Amino acid sequence: MRLYERFLKGGVPEYLARYYWWAYLWEKSIWFFDHQPIINAILFGQYDTLLKKTLAQVEARPGAQLLQLTCVYGKLTPSLLKHTGNEVHLCDVAVGQLNLARSKTLEASGQCHLARMNAETLGYADDAFDQAIVFFLFHELPTQARQHVYDEIARVVKRGGSVLVTEYGSTPHRHWLYRFAPFRWLLGRLEPFLPGFWQEDVNAKLSEALQKRGKALAGEPQVEHCFARFYRVMRFDLL
Ligand SMILES: C[S@@+](CC[C@H](N)C(=O)[O-])C[C@H]1O[C@@H](n2cnc3c(N)ncnc32)[C@H](O)[C@@H]1O
Repeated sequence: MRLYERFLKGGVPEYLARYYWWAYLWEKSIWFFDHQPIINAILFGQYDTLLKKTLAQVEARPGAQLLQLTCVYGKLTPSLLKHTGNEVHLCDVAVGQLNLARSKTLEASGQCHLARMNAETLGYADDAFDQAIVFFLFHELPTQARQHVYDEIARVVKRGGSVLVTEYGSTPHRHWLYRFAPFRWLLGRLEPFLPGFWQEDVNAKLSEALQKRGKALAGEPQVEHCFARFYRVMRFDLL
């Protein structure tokens, strides 16, 4: 039995166990990575900037129903709860991640609803949410899983709602990190689906998924870049 196969239980997708057991499924790594300095270092010191830009685009209309698609390390979820005052539904396929999220949201447990789910096949009703928030998930998904997630977002976000995506930018050919070959090699090893995501037209993918549901985007997304376009925050509004 290979090491990663030990983590293949309870509906955990194969790619998650195979490529990311060391990041999201192993209890020691869950403890290790959920320290603010660590997660900030992984994002090259950009965590607070990205958090601020993301929170600025979060739907704060009273009563809006928010979906945070999968757990994240660091303070995003508690910040989201404080920032909006709205209910946040948070789903993830990994029990350890949900437990961690619970420990960080105890004070707001009535406002934060956790559920174990695969983001590719969500159990929420059609048009259940005013906004879906997707923080660094897409680049960790294989192409087909990404497609399923676009489709599910298009299904559960209602007309007039929005999709907020915080992610890597498109292929950063000119960025000094990308031009440094050993770093590019390392990133490719640690994040095997990132090169595919770098090339993906998120706008087109989301538009196609919405079209299948008879929905559409209300024009171009609002995009904010940071770290010389290495990262971006995109808000897509639906008609
Ligand atoms: C949001 S992503 C990346 C987060 C980012 N590296 C961070 O912590 O800031 C990581 C989460 O996605 C979850 N995940 C990955 N694939 C999933 C899927 N298909 N369904 C639900 N959760 C998934 C993992 O269990 C993990 O908790």
